[in-house]
Formats: sequence, C-alpha cells, structure tokens
Amino acid sequence: MNDLLDSKIIKDKCKYDVDIVVFDEIDSTNRYAKELEKDKTIVISDTQSNGRGRLGRDFLSSKGKGIYMSILLKYDEKMLDPTLLTCFTGTVVSKVFEHLLGLNPGIKWVNDIYINNKKVCGILVESVIKNNNFDKFIVGIGINVYKQEFPIELVDKITTLEDNTKIKVSRNEIIASIINEFFDNLNKPFMDYYKDKMILKQKLVEINERDKRYMAEVIDVSDNGELIIKYNGELKKLYTGEVVRVKM
Ligand code: BTN
Repeated sequence: MNDLLDSKIIKDKCKYDVDIVVFDEIDSTNRYAKELEKDKTIVISDTQSNGRGRLGRDFLSSKGKGIYMSILLKYDEKMLDPTLLTCFTGTVVSKVFEHLLGLNPGIKWVNDIYINNKKVCGILVESVIKNNNFDKFIVGIGINVYKQEFPIELVDKITTLEDNTKIKVSRNEIIASIINEFFDNLNKPFMDYYKDKMILKQKLVEINERDKRYMAEVIDVSDNGELIIKYNGELKKLYTGEVVRVKM
C-alpha cells in the first residue's frame, strides 16, 4: 500500500478543530510540540532521528514504518487528572487497535501496548510547567506499523501491527481515529477498560524502582493509575518504577 502521511487527509477525517503538522523527518515530535502553544496541535513525522522513550531511552522510529505523533494539550483545570494521561492514552490506542484493526491488545502498566506478548506501541507523556502551574502536556505515541528489521536484541520483544492483522488501514486513518477517540473520551471514565486490559494482573514480576530491584505479585491497578503489588506479604502502591521482567 502506498501509505504516505498527509495532513489534509488526516484533518478531513478528524471531528475536531485540530492543527496537523507533518514532517518527513524530525529529531522528536515530542521535542518539537513542546515549543508550540496551540491546543490540539498534532505533530507527526515519517521518521525521527532522536525518538525518545520513557526513562531516557531511545525509541526506534524507522522511516515510513510507523506512526510517530505528539498531541499538544493545553492544561485546563477541568481536564482529567494529569497523572492519568498515560493510562488514558493507552486506553485510547488500545481501543483503536481493537475496533479499527480487529486486534486484541493488552496494556502493560503503565504505558506499553502489547499484542501476543510483544510490544507494539509506547507512550511518553511530558508536561511543561509555567509559573509553578501546569501549562501544557505533550502526549507522544509511537506505533510499529509495518514489518521492518529490528535490532537483534529487540526481535523477540517487539512486533508490528502488520505482523498481527490482515486488515489494511492507512497510517492517516489510524492517526485520525486516535485523535477522534482521544478527544471523544478525554473527560469520560476509562479506568475499567484499562484495568481489564492490564496484562500483568496475578503475574510475578521483577520491579525496578529507582535503584531497587525486587520480585512482587501484581494485584491490580488503582483508580489513580498506581500499580498495586504484593511484596513481603503486604500490599504496596507503585507510582514510579518499572516492571522489568514478567514470570509467566
Ligand atoms: C516508550 O516506549 O518508552 C515511549 C515511546 C514514545 C515514542 C513516541 S514517538 C512520538 C513521540 N516523540 C518522541 O520522541 N517519543 C514519542
């Protein structure tokens, strides 16, 4: 499929008054979006030379093979609790994968979307503070869409949409669906879906919390988006930290 990114096609499919900026190449759509001001600006690129992931990692952004997009959201005190934006975005992307592509995704707390035990999408939400107050949020979404050569150390860990569905939908259409789903639901409850899709429940996982590593059982996700784990017989809520290894 001749799948070229096109700002006009995306805008025409959007129900909302969004500004769409498309690049052939940029360092990072999140970095660029941070310099903009207009609410509902969407920055998209065909590739990123310095795609960023959580915890200071890189995000592989092969040319023409994925969706690399950032949504600029100006802070509004009536909006959902900003600490829930990552879980909310995971819900949005997962629902689009289900309804548009017939997939059955799972969400790995807090920000990764998995299909058949391999990561297909990562989410990086960044905030900009001005005068001690939230000013804006940059919601970055990176999706592996088409088959591509992954570095050997990632081959067993990541996958693409193309590897998992026969339904062919253009990147423009997937992007527009994500934007519509995002703004349709921004102030609606979503945590039940998120909890239902969270793949770590009842799993024994290795937690990497700052410089501490330990094994714990995952119980659930709280309504505030924290991971509830059982460690040394006691329940504990995890705000930061990362699940590094899952014992299936
Ligand atoms: C992760 O897996 O840790 C998060 C990855 C987020 C990648 C997206 S791609 C678009 C946006 N721009 C970036 O530099 N990062 C995010």
